[in-house]
Amino acid sequence: MTPEETLGRALRDIVGGGNVLDDPEVTARYRRDWTGRFHGPPTPVVRPSSTEQVAATITYCRDREVGIVPQGGNTGLVGGSVPLAGEVVLSLDRLAGVESVTAHAGVLTAAAGTTIGDVQRAAREHGWDYGVDLASRDTATVGGTIATNACGTRAVRYGDTRHQVVGVEVVTGEGVTLSNLGGTLRDNTGYHLPSIVTGSEGTLGVVTRARLRLAASYSLRTTALLRFGSVGDAALAAESIRGLLPTVESVELFLADGLELVCAAFDLAPPFTETTGAYVLIEAADLRDPTVELSEVVGSLPGVVDVAVAEDDAARRRLWRYREEHTAAISTVGIPHKLDVAVPPGSLAELVERAPLLVSSIAPRARTWLFGHGGESALHINITGVDPDDDTVDDAVLRLVGELHGTISAEHGIGRAKARWIELAHGPAELQLLGRIKAAFDPSGIMNPGVLLPRTGWSADG
Ligand code: MLT
Ligand code: ZN
Repeated sequence: MTPEETLGRALRDIVGGGNVLDDPEVTARYRRDWTGRFHGPPTPVVRPSSTEQVAATITYCRDREVGIVPQGGNTGLVGGSVPLAGEVVLSLDRLAGVESVTAHAGVLTAAAGTTIGDVQRAAREHGWDYGVDLASRDTATVGGTIATNACGTRAVRYGDTRHQVVGVEVVTGEGVTLSNLGGTLRDNTGYHLPSIVTGSEGTLGVVTRARLRLAASYSLRTTALLRFGSVGDAALAAESIRGLLPTVESVELFLADGLELVCAAFDLAPPFTETTGAYVLIEAADLRDPTVELSEVVGSLPGVVDVAVAEDDAARRRLWRYREEHTAAISTVGIPHKLDVAVPPGSLAELVERAPLLVSSIAPRARTWLFGHGGESALHINITGVDPDDDTVDDAVLRLVGELHGTISAEHGIGRAKARWIELAHGPAELQLLGRIKAAFDPSGIMNPGVLLPRTGWSADG
């Protein structure tokens, strides 16, 4: 028997015959990321249906030093959820479902493969909401969003996924199951397992279940789209809204060329007669109608030249499409290089002005598309028209962000796409310490090799 056949047979013994996929056509979607930039050769996909099966799979692979790539909804944008070097894919898609809701106190326990959309629906059935929302809500999963510490469009009010996770069950790279799903909303007993695991990008272990803090449900919401004459005014306004409007839930930024692309790609009418300038989309939600409060704040912002306000769901959805369809519209132009950075408040406008000029000076035929979560000075810099393997522009833009004292990832994580720039995020002493944390959870180095920390960039001895 070849080593591949031996591996396949062992995995089948663990999860059952039909739950190891190896037909290259069937596994293609597990081996390719959403952007199309990252894809790997045929490799088995294992689909466990219990924590015990996850632990047995990891233990088997650990003993043979077989790499594992954990995968939730595979909506990640930094190449962190696809096998590039023949690793086994450990898909959590069969380990799904909301398991319990403590309705009066707003806490929910769900299996890792549950989609964020299902968490939101379960929360709403019980009079609550979930603080994380993102365009991929019906595909992205609890486990995947914990692994990547997903942020989405409501983080300005509720924080990122880390702020919602009060307990996790995780199988470490050593095959040990750790669980603190006991139920408390607070836990201050030292090192906090949910915080360590959240954002670890599958490099420490596999999240199998989680306990999530739900958010209050604000049934009345109003959305406004503002057009500004200048990027400077738009950026300053976006950064100021959180202090001016306590009921704010989202503050999103985009530019005229991105809007034009979205309108062309989806055959949408533009929101205003004039399309130049920069746009800020604001959503407020409360138990009382927030429209008056929102309108007063909008009226106080310098530089606004057009405003559209939407109160009913259909009109709100129309405004949101101009922002949420950016990702899909950009992909119609080509495979994008996706950078998701943030700069200190006050530097957003400078980054918006300088990034496209820098890209054009290196790659004159490239296009730079800018949009993002302006309320937190977080900007998505998407670049099309550059070979997927040529990261010269990525390097230049990330170094510009470093010059502005920003971060090389504010949302999507490091993955494989940004592992080579990890030293821009952490100094040598910090990197050594992160390596020791990795080694403590995953001494054989089988968990998501090459993601977050470079393959050779960590060891138990530092
Ligand atoms: C977004 O903000 O729309 C998401 O992070 C996806 C993306 O950056 O394309
Ligand atoms: Zn985003």
